[in-house]
Amino acid sequence: MGDPVVEARRELEEVAGLDAAALHAAADEPATPRAADALEALVRRRRAGEPLQYVLGSWAFRGIDVLVDRRVLIPRPETEVLAEVAIAEAARLGLRVGRPDPWATTTPEAVVCDLGTGSGAVALALAAALPDVQVWATDVSADALAVARANLAGSGGAAVRVRLAAGSWFAALPAALAGRVHLVVSNPPYVREDEFAALPPEVRDWEPVEALVSGPTGMEAVAEILTDASRWLSRPGTVVLEVAAERAEDAAALARRLAYERVELHPDLAGRPRVLVAASGGRGRSSSRPSRDGPAGPR
Ligand SMILES: C[S@@+](CC[C@H](N)C(=O)[O-])C[C@H]1O[C@@H](n2cnc3c(N)ncnc32)[C@H](O)[C@@H]1O
Repeated sequence: MGDPVVEARRELEEVAGLDAAALHAAADEPATPRAADALEALVRRRRAGEPLQYVLGSWAFRGIDVLVDRRVLIPRPETEVLAEVAIAEAARLGLRVGRPDPWATTTPEAVVCDLGTGSGAVALALAAALPDVQVWATDVSADALAVARANLAGSGGAAVRVRLAAGSWFAALPAALAGRVHLVVSNPPYVREDEFAALPPEVRDWEPVEALVSGPTGMEAVAEILTDASRWLSRPGTVVLEVAAERAEDAAALARRLAYERVELHPDLAGRPRVLVAASGGRGRSSSRPSRDGPAGPR
């Protein structure tokens, strides 16, 4: 649970429809009975243990407001690191990072995939940062895709370059993309089945289990994506995955066994190895040491 004062303020902002500064300016105005009822309803949900993000109904991810509810995982700060590393890897592949070209008339040819898109947060962040790419956002969960669709509809701009597809990992993609994907990005489920019961109740009792648990080893989804990516990646091409810190070295070792030429682990904000880069078809030294300086993102 976060700081109750901060949380209460967020709930107040939500029911008042004001940002923090406007709420501060309006602090002496009495609340309408309707606003008071709405606030009470939010507080009741929060007291029942529902995560603040679901109670508010949206959460910011890299500056993008993303709708979230029980159908999707709540986007995490470490996943912002995943997106940042992915954008840096896109730049390394020669893809342009920055604003869209207002005069562009052609459909982008570079392809980026966000496998297991959930709310669509990562796909939207990639589309916003990489103006010349087409982003394929996939999920096996129809519920998650419905939330992602709502987020695309509400985002405008870059969202027109995001396409949604249903299916298990790469099976969701059209066959014509085989060998043409520059960048595969994913935050797959990576909790071991026997770890599930020990997750914090706010996670275990509220977030979708299929977004969290991978299988008996916790490595199933990571292994499947790393193994199957070779058929879909262009050369050069790169996979960027969020992984469990405890299994990050195993994931890096697997990537090396699968003959990826550059394998790196990047730390999250707490310094734990959480983002795996596995690149093929380019030059570069293989290393599993977390890069202490953090990824060279365009922040
Ligand atoms: C950890 S959540 C990540 C959600 C979102 N990308 C994020 O980072 O906030 C994992 C997502 O993978 C999806 N998923 C689970 N198994 C899948 C599979 N076999 N194929 C595609 N997506 C899958 C889940 O439905 C869930 O949306």
